[in-house]
Amino acid sequence: MNTLTATVPIRAACFPKSQLHIVLRGYTSVVATAGLRRGSPLYATTHRHQTDAKRFISTTPQSKIKEFFPPPDAPHIKEMETAWVHPVYTEEQMQQVTVAHRQAKDWPDWVALGTVRLLRWGMDLVTGYRHAPAGKENETKFQMTEQKWLTRFIFLESVAGVPGMVGGMLRHLRSLRRMKRDNGWIETLLEEAYNERMHLLTFLKLAEPGWFMRLMVLGAQGVFFNGFFISYLLSPRICHRFVGYLEEEAVLTYSRAIKDIESGKLPEWEKLEAPEIAVQYWKMPEGQRSMKDLLLYVRADEAKHREVNHTLGNLHQGADPNPYAAKYKDPTKPHPGKGIENLKATGWERDEVI
Ligand SMILES: [Fe+2]
Ligand SMILES: [Fe+2]
Repeated sequence: MNTLTATVPIRAACFPKSQLHIVLRGYTSVVATAGLRRGSPLYATTHRHQTDAKRFISTTPQSKIKEFFPPPDAPHIKEMETAWVHPVYTEEQMQQVTVAHRQAKDWPDWVALGTVRLLRWGMDLVTGYRHAPAGKENETKFQMTEQKWLTRFIFLESVAGVPGMVGGMLRHLRSLRRMKRDNGWIETLLEEAYNERMHLLTFLKLAEPGWFMRLMVLGAQGVFFNGFFISYLLSPRICHRFVGYLEEEAVLTYSRAIKDIESGKLPEWEKLEAPEIAVQYWKMPEGQRSMKDLLLYVRADEAKHREVNHTLGNLHQGADPNPYAAKYKDPTKPHPGKGIENLKATGWERDEVI
């Protein structure tokens, strides 16, 4: 299989010469290098048939690039099954997903929103992302490449899979400890974590991070897992609100990437097809398997997480049943569910569109 290799030096005070090494699997043999240098403008160069391995700081041998996580080598197993089958989204439903913001209404909301804004600032810094002000979209320093988007997606998704697992784990332990039922929250939270991990695995079929990216993910997970664990013990309500705001940012990120594809700024992705793992997971129909389609699916998932977590943040954490796991007496009325058909009828306000 042909490969596309990108090296992304990271602008960070303590790692001025560090680099991210990403190997993209695609349909070309173009090798691209895109990087940020401290105090200098972003640059991007493209080389054909890059062969100088010393150029890249990576511990990943070239021979391992072909299959980052191959299927299990078990002769009697055809495929692996999941308990969390993804609901089917229609094209129309996915197109209706919008960037939206729930306004902060009290101090816990402000704590959650402030923390997300701080994390967003830090993430923009390490992934080299700068959002262009109106009218400056075409300036070089604001341009995102395929490699830079993938760096951002992989880092984002490696962090996004943590909250659902921590929340689900703590509610599971509380149920055991107090010998009380959980009212259906655990499954939804674990399913969210599973869904985020599927996002990560999908993007890892397109890019293989080098040691520096792995180090960043390791550090981020170590800090974020412990921080979220303690925070969830102290205030699960603030934590769900925090995840709701984090997911608003995720919807924004994927919306901007989709817009970049539509405006022709990401030519490598115009012909690239979604990896097989994504086709299977989202049950992507024939003719709707492009990179843009993939991002529409991922964005719809993020919009669902946004809705679920803002809703859970509105509830009494110890007493209220999870509305996404409930069966209702009157099925003719709109109720929360697993799909995205009722995004507007699920208990949090879409009161401000960015
Ligand atoms: Fe995600
Ligand atoms: Fe998400």
